[in-house]
Amino acid sequence: MFITFEGIDGSGKSTQIERTAAWLTALGWNVLVSREPGGSRLGEVIRSILLDPQWHSMCARTEFFLYSASRAQLIEEIVTPHLAQPKAVVILDRYDDSSTAYQGGGRELGIEKIEAINAFATGGLVPDLSFVLDVDWETSQRRQRDSRGEPDRLEQNARDFFERVRAAYHDLCRRHASRMVLLDGTKSADEVFAAIQARLDGRLNLASLDK
Ligand code: ADP
Ligand code: TYD
Repeated sequence: MFITFEGIDGSGKSTQIERTAAWLTALGWNVLVSREPGGSRLGEVIRSILLDPQWHSMCARTEFFLYSASRAQLIEEIVTPHLAQPKAVVILDRYDDSSTAYQGGGRELGIEKIEAINAFATGGLVPDLSFVLDVDWETSQRRQRDSRGEPDRLEQNARDFFERVRAAYHDLCRRHASRMVLLDGTKSADEVFAAIQARLDGRLNLASLDK
């Protein structure tokens, strides 16, 4: 099983990933959690470039290819080898839908173009399930203020950018409805987790029959 978590910064991805990983591990699944950008050694170096405020003039296409480069390395080095193991589950904090939403929608590089290059960068590896945690601007801002200090380069983005990213996630969920699950991330962490468990339960029963 390959599961991804998506959504705006502060939507609750890390919170739900931690719970999901603990739950699946307790059920006996061989769980690997990783994140984008980063995850591999080379990917973490790329991540530090992406988050560094000194590169405020980085152009949108450069940014996109750096995300894609980090992703390609993560798949090759970490995701694919893990998925080959028995009872394997890989959980990723962001995957190629982030590029579609942020670079395609937010930075307006074009959704179709980004999806085409994503397919090349990932070698066509598509998640079994993608949870998109949906929150409004006020919630996202409040949660980030509460949990962080100074904003990094990417967190300095304005509200119109936020709204374009959010709309792109909604559009993705409509177009990939069999894989993508849009969840109301403004609900309590317990309620969101219950929705994730409900959705995963059926899938994992089927998966365990295959083993
Ligand atoms: P992300 O990984 O998407 O940036 P986090 O899981 O780090 O989001 O959550 C951002 C902040 O919001 C943290 O302080 C976290 O404790 C809090 N938080 C997460 N989920 C919820 C929720 N459902 N309700 C209220 N606060 C939440
Ligand atoms: P991350 O640190 O995971 O953000 P958070 O935990 O705060 O949600 O991701 C860093 C930023 O990178 C985040 O603002 C989203 C952005 N991003 C893209 O713009 N495109 C991408 O393809 C990915 C993976 C992330």
